[in-house]
Amino acid sequence: MMAASWQLWRDRRGRLSTLRIAALIFLLTPLIKAIFQANEIAHGARPLNELIHRAGFWALVFLGVTLAITPFRRILRYGNLADIRRMLGVGTFCYIAAHLTLFFADQSYDPGKFIHEITHRVYLIIGAIAWIGLAALAATSTDGMVRRLGGLRWRRLHQAIYAIALLALIHYFQQTKADVTVPTFAAGLFLWLMAYRLLAWWQDTSELSTLSLLGLAFAVSVLTFAGEAIGIAIAFHVSPLRVLETMFDFDVGIRPGWQVLAAGFAVAAIDAVMARWRNRTTRARAVAAE
Ligand code: HEM
Repeated sequence: MMAASWQLWRDRRGRLSTLRIAALIFLLTPLIKAIFQANEIAHGARPLNELIHRAGFWALVFLGVTLAITPFRRILRYGNLADIRRMLGVGTFCYIAAHLTLFFADQSYDPGKFIHEITHRVYLIIGAIAWIGLAALAATSTDGMVRRLGGLRWRRLHQAIYAIALLALIHYFQQTKADVTVPTFAAGLFLWLMAYRLLAWWQDTSELSTLSLLGLAFAVSVLTFAGEAIGIAIAFHVSPLRVLETMFDFDVGIRPGWQVLAAGFAVAAIDAVMARWRNRTTRARAVAAE
């Protein structure tokens, strides 16, 4: 039995899929949370602005999770993970569509004001380019469009996701008024996702060793520390070395470089466990077959 395309909880063969159900719940969580907090949001200072922020933030999270599918299907030795990539990508677009609709509502549904705002602020122009890119990818994500474009052209088009993610991160940084710790952490994770692909391509492999993953975590963490120090140095006209001196000062908070290092090490640890587990099951199967 084939599943109807709207039956998102069924896989291609029409079977109920736990993975797809989990992805759907994950995608709906921010919406459900906002519904539960509706009263609190409505009585806040700027309810529409609060919702714009929530939708933008979660769109970026889902974009990151979509990009994490490729490395994680290898690290978890779970190729089937690719089955939820399209759902996550389209889910990202739904949140970004809500983000823009809420922004339009915040401009009192006045098209002139809406266009004027977007075209007069650099961070909104950058957001708009990323938005159009995501819309193009969502529109070409159906089986029919994959067939019409042909595999190679479709893949090339969808590689635009890397540039779109970069624009979304710039938009995120630019709209942040004070503390850039969270955007810097997000940028560090994005760097890891890109560096993983580059290293795999350079080593001509689809699976990086645990040692390579440890090296990757370390290198990305160093770049995150350096990026943060240079950014703060430029913004506040201080020496980047002065900024770096604060990296061991945990009283002011844990710097994003450490957070990225911890995340990278956690991924390497998961890889080591999965590699051992796979070796054991392969050996057990070989013994059973003898
Ligand atoms: C035309 C397109 C877009 C418009 C008009 C727009 C507008 C906005 C506005 C008004 C804010 C709040 C700024 C403030 O309060 O000062 C915001 C924040 C944000 N936007 Fe967008 N945006 C667009 C596209 C995007 C895209 C494509 C993404 C990412 C996928 C994105 C992600 C975010 C994020 C992450 C935030 C900050 C959320 C937070 O505070 O945690 N935006 N955007």
